[in-house]
Amino acid sequence: MLLIRLYREIIKILKKDDNSLGIFKVRTEEKILDKFVIRGGKPLHGEVTISGAKNAAVAIVTAAILCDEPCIIENVPDISDIAICLEIFRQMRADVRLINKNTVRIDTKNISVPSVPYDLARSMRASSYFLGTLLGRFHEALVALPGGCDLGDRPIDQHLKAFKALGASDIMENGSVHIKADELIGNQIYFDFITVGGTINAIFAAVKAKGYTVIENAAKEPHIVDVANFLNSMGADIRGAGTDVIKIRGVDYLKGITYPVIPDQIEAGTYMVAAAATRGNVLIKNVIPKHLESITAKLRNIGVSVEEFDESVRVRADSGGIFLKTNIRTMPHPGFPTDMQPQMSTLLTLAEGTSTVYDDIFDNRFRYVSELRRMGADISVDGKVAVIHGGRLTGAPVKATDLRAGAAMIIAGLAASGVTEISDIYHIERGYEAIEEKLKAIGADIQRVYVPSGSDMAISV
Ligand code: EPU
Repeated sequence: MLLIRLYREIIKILKKDDNSLGIFKVRTEEKILDKFVIRGGKPLHGEVTISGAKNAAVAIVTAAILCDEPCIIENVPDISDIAICLEIFRQMRADVRLINKNTVRIDTKNISVPSVPYDLARSMRASSYFLGTLLGRFHEALVALPGGCDLGDRPIDQHLKAFKALGASDIMENGSVHIKADELIGNQIYFDFITVGGTINAIFAAVKAKGYTVIENAAKEPHIVDVANFLNSMGADIRGAGTDVIKIRGVDYLKGITYPVIPDQIEAGTYMVAAAATRGNVLIKNVIPKHLESITAKLRNIGVSVEEFDESVRVRADSGGIFLKTNIRTMPHPGFPTDMQPQMSTLLTLAEGTSTVYDDIFDNRFRYVSELRRMGADISVDGKVAVIHGGRLTGAPVKATDLRAGAAMIIAGLAASGVTEISDIYHIERGYEAIEEKLKAIGADIQRVYVPSGSDMAISV
């Protein structure tokens, strides 16, 4: 571990250029090369602690722009999506200080230009949150179109519809969305379908608008409630977050606060499924069991034991029983989350009988299937439906095709016999803090293989 850290420090120093983006550039180069090698078949045992929620943290950190004083955000996961958000802030001249690995103090008073550096904005879907926060503060925002991604086309028409309802107009300029409003005035916003990002952006734009905004057909995900709690702690007046109608009375001033991000529902669910798939026994700590209900229910259907405590869950599949087939349909919260579909489908490749999985939230959430097939999984996909005939998995070289697909590959590798090598793990590092260390601590045989740029040499640590 020390060796690899030392190696990275040297690479950073060698490659760092004048602008403050040096470390991030190195990260993106490293990300092409690193691989995980997993020797599977070992049951996971022990305790794992869940980090702050990625999808809450990217929104909350971005919302620091709306705060009129410095704010401190705790329980921020140490993942590359957050590194990008903080780099965006630094380049916009905000004062960003890491108090420790998971706590950041952000003071945005020096931001004077409501424009996000183009390449950074393009590299992360959640950069669309800068549209709502900059619009809320400056009545103007220029942000590169987040565009398509590994999950398929991801339009922002509903976000723009919400901004328009509040009085803004938008045009496309050289690949960026430019939004402007003389003033923002509260209004009724009705979403044509449920959108997490659209709901959060509507809240951001409305929180300092004049008067009263009502968001109908709002998303209800736990991180929407967390974002609203963060803003309300600063003095906002948002009611109904967590239901499908959110009411916001605009305020003029948001004061500085210290706020902890909620635990990550999807990271917790991923460890729950990993514990089950390896026939292990793991206590998953720092969770909100209520947020995990749809995952818990599916695991129980499959025959896995899940015990709930105040802030932890114990997942056991070490009694030797078979995994039962089941059917899954992803839905917005409180339904079964699309972000857990690849992981749970991987578990179903080990179940007896035929399971079906329906996921229509994104165009392209079954890209991992061709990788799982390399490991012997019997899955066919027709449009939005996967049919899984259970069996066993054997190790193979595979790649992470996106973040949750990468998590699924890790679970498959842990449960398979033999060796699995996973490439493109930078996808995984976007959203899972210290996944290798956490898995090792509960008995996984997982190694990072680091191939230095421009060399044939592989360093295994
Ligand atoms: N959509 C539109 N127009 C819009 C907005 C959304 O057509 O203006 C479509 C999307 O293309 C998609 C569907 O509506 O087909 C739902 O999209 P939504 O806006 O709800 O998703 P998102 O905000 O882009 C967030 C999470 C995703 C998670 C989805 C669904 C963040 C940063 N991302 O994305 O997380 O899958 O909600 O729950 O919060 C992940 O963590 O791996 C991840 C992809």
